[in-house]
Amino acid sequence: MKLLSVRYERFRNLGALTLTPSAKTTIAVGPNGQGKTNLLEGLYFLSTLKPLRASRLAELIQFGQADAVVQGRFLLQGAERDIAVRVEGKTRTALVDGKAASSLSSYFGGVSVVAFTPDDLAVVKGGPDGRRAFLDRAVFNRFPGYLTESRDYARALKGRNRLLKDGASAAQVGAWDEALARFGAKLFVRRRALLDEVAPKAQAAFERITRLQAPARFGYGASGLSGLDFQGADEAALAQALHDALVARTPKDRERGFTSVGPHTDDLELFLGDAAARAYASQGQARALVLAWKVAEIENLAQANGFLPLLLLDDVSSELDPERNAFLMQYLVDLGAQALLSTTDAALVQRAAGPDTVWWQVEAGQVRASDGA
Ligand SMILES: Nc1ncnc2c1ncn2[C@@H]1O[C@H](COP(=O)(O)OP(=O)(O)O)[C@@H](O)[C@H]1O
Ligand SMILES: [Mg+2]
Repeated sequence: MKLLSVRYERFRNLGALTLTPSAKTTIAVGPNGQGKTNLLEGLYFLSTLKPLRASRLAELIQFGQADAVVQGRFLLQGAERDIAVRVEGKTRTALVDGKAASSLSSYFGGVSVVAFTPDDLAVVKGGPDGRRAFLDRAVFNRFPGYLTESRDYARALKGRNRLLKDGASAAQVGAWDEALARFGAKLFVRRRALLDEVAPKAQAAFERITRLQAPARFGYGASGLSGLDFQGADEAALAQALHDALVARTPKDRERGFTSVGPHTDDLELFLGDAAARAYASQGQARALVLAWKVAEIENLAQANGFLPLLLLDDVSSELDPERNAFLMQYLVDLGAQALLSTTDAALVQRAAGPDTVWWQVEAGQVRASDGA
């Protein structure tokens, strides 16, 4: 898979731009606030239909404009494909070769991307919601069908929560339990499958990155499903266990006004030896854990798809310590994937640059090809 060109129209501060990245490393350089992250965010959105940082789709549309478009030409298994996403108001439309995509799988059709942003580095020490989102990004990347499945779940959850908030009877609330348990079990299965693939690779990568430290472990924290062998249960058993938990918690949920069990309350568990990384990891270890996870995700996608994903590394160098940064830059060189990096200081990414590197100078939403640092 290769990105041949990308076009932005009215996306954030990028007015109208058509850019041709390198088949290997492209480095966007510029001071803060110029649009470097916006370039990466547009590509991430194009490749996943999920915003990288926006909480509302409308934020992606340039101030004062009615819509935004990101369009990419990709080389996929020898054929060129044009995919585009357009945001208008709260709605997003996916287009393949200029026509509305008939399905998500026809849209994604093998496009895959892994993003690494400074926000990721806060995941280890932050709250479970950040870790869930972090995990879910990896699940989306690996299983595009998860996009629809998690929307189904979110809709059922919203329905149940609305009744809880409105003080509806237990019977009324219970009308949602079957659907919520069924959709929830699908999310459990996807997250478990992703972790089964990625966790061993991340543990191995952590050893490569840190050497000689306590081994890392990545696991799934399913809360509130009592008496269940989470790892061994099939989808029906998971649905049953979640259904039982929902029923058991209904009185408490009615008091509190929200649903207190299910995939939306779970956590991605990170351990160093036997210690929870959230409480005990140093900053350096926390960063190494995140880096190891990303490396594992890349390797896993390459193995599953037969080609490397497009890598987006936003502002990495400013947040990573020199040792981890050196590892990451060397890793990129060895991997040879197509990558788009952004930085305020070209010196920090010099190690990742080679003869085929394309340099972009970013200023006030404009991009100028330059000859590097
Ligand atoms: N919807 C939008 N319309 C126009 N400008 C936007 C929009 N959203 C963000 N911006 C502008 O984009 C700039 C930040 O771009 P960003 O890519 O985060 O910069 P950086 O180069 O630091 O990564 C800011 O000037 C911000 O005002
Ligand atoms: Mg930025």
